[in-house]
Amino acid sequence: MSEYDLIIKGGTVVNAADMVKADVGIRDGRVVAIAESLSGADREIDASGRYVMPGGVDSHCHIEQPSSTGGKNAETFESGTRSAACGGTTSIICFCPQEKGSTITPMLRDYHEKAKKACIDYSFHLIINDPSDAVVSELPGLIGEGHRSLKLFMTYPKNRVDDSEILRIFEVARSNEALVTVHAENHDAIMYMTDKLLAAGLTGTKYHAWCKPPVVEREAVHRIIALAELMDQPIQIFHVTCAEAAEEIRRAQQRGLKIFAETCPQYFVLTEDDLDKPSREGAKALCSPAPRTEEHQSALWSYIRSGTLGVVTSDHAPYNVHTPDGKFWAGDNAPFNQIANGVPGLETRMPIVFSEGVATGRIDLQTFVAITSANAAKLFGLYPKKGTVSVGADADIVIWDAEKAVTVTQDKLHHDTDYTPYEGKTLTGWPVTTISRGRVIWNDGEVDAEPGWGRFIARDPYDYIAPRGVFPTPFNPVSGELV
Ligand code: URP
Ligand code: ZN
Ligand code: ZN
Repeated sequence: MSEYDLIIKGGTVVNAADMVKADVGIRDGRVVAIAESLSGADREIDASGRYVMPGGVDSHCHIEQPSSTGGKNAETFESGTRSAACGGTTSIICFCPQEKGSTITPMLRDYHEKAKKACIDYSFHLIINDPSDAVVSELPGLIGEGHRSLKLFMTYPKNRVDDSEILRIFEVARSNEALVTVHAENHDAIMYMTDKLLAAGLTGTKYHAWCKPPVVEREAVHRIIALAELMDQPIQIFHVTCAEAAEEIRRAQQRGLKIFAETCPQYFVLTEDDLDKPSREGAKALCSPAPRTEEHQSALWSYIRSGTLGVVTSDHAPYNVHTPDGKFWAGDNAPFNQIANGVPGLETRMPIVFSEGVATGRIDLQTFVAITSANAAKLFGLYPKKGTVSVGADADIVIWDAEKAVTVTQDKLHHDTDYTPYEGKTLTGWPVTTISRGRVIWNDGEVDAEPGWGRFIARDPYDYIAPRGVFPTPFNPVSGELV
């Protein structure tokens, strides 16, 4: 019997903290050796001239989820996770929503059934749209089962929670050691602007950006930070798009608050000009918050470099543009506010970050690993099983060809959405091999991802998101005690 099931030979192992030329030995789905030279395996993969990095952790993607803005998700767990694997990602965290007025447990059981078709490992955030007594009383059990992150929306009529509901969600999260993730935009301001724009006859996709300018995002980010500070609740702010929102986060982090934040590839490459395109083209870039300007794009890179924005996720939200149940669920000529929000991006996430980040010299390789894998693994309690190529970690690995130039086209991708917003864009750097718990699922253009291979990752409590125990007054509002 061979000592290893698989050896990755001759590559450069890159982790978030370091980089070393070494062979990687894998047995029973885990990394068991990293050394100058290994031998004795059933299979070897030659990685010379390539980077051997932890598989991507995409902690924000919408798969088989009822939509917030109309339309039906184009992807299934099978197609979504297959395309993620082809893009170098080996773990995802997606969303099980509560419907307003209902409990969450039945939805969650159903969601677990659907996810059994996943080709890579997965975990769930629980979306709380209505923190009723019934939901608040079921959450301790559900968090205890390993659904250790909640999500709340500050906008979208079907999802939006107000400030008192936010405090209630923070209370249950803090009492049960869960992280809260947040879609931060000012709902009333968006509704007001939308009504005004529509009344003025301004209905095209370009006005999506006008109804939600950066100030709307900045205000909500400021407010959610204040509420989190009041409750001493760690949060992650989703999809930061603009300098002023990132600056609020930087200031909060500098005060020592546990405020974490992500951005997404679409905010590095799409701009509001992409919304101002004729026919269906504008809808292909329509997502929330809205794409901004090149100035904001370069600001986002500088907030990545300084560590303010620690994670880049896809926010994969797949809606077809050519079928009546997708983006255009409200009809071909629907106004901007009735077009499903979101862009597909599981497969292109890591290549875009590599190409726009590493290949252009904006970030180094370690930062690439940190923002696409290690930091999300740490933040969501998956580390060091995920997010690192180290002895004892799951053998979730991507082998990267930094030189390979690929022009993105819909026919090259493996998702089930009928378009990509990045059609025709040439990227430098592409994953050539993806390995999930020791199983090669993507290699040299061939997919061998097996539906059902992916396992649910239950997340136990972890120190990274422990509250600080610091409140604005000597009173802990969660326990009701003096501190
Ligand atoms: O436009 C987006 N991001 N759609 C998905 C739902 C959300 O807002 O996260
Ligand atoms: Zn969102
Ligand atoms: Zn999202």
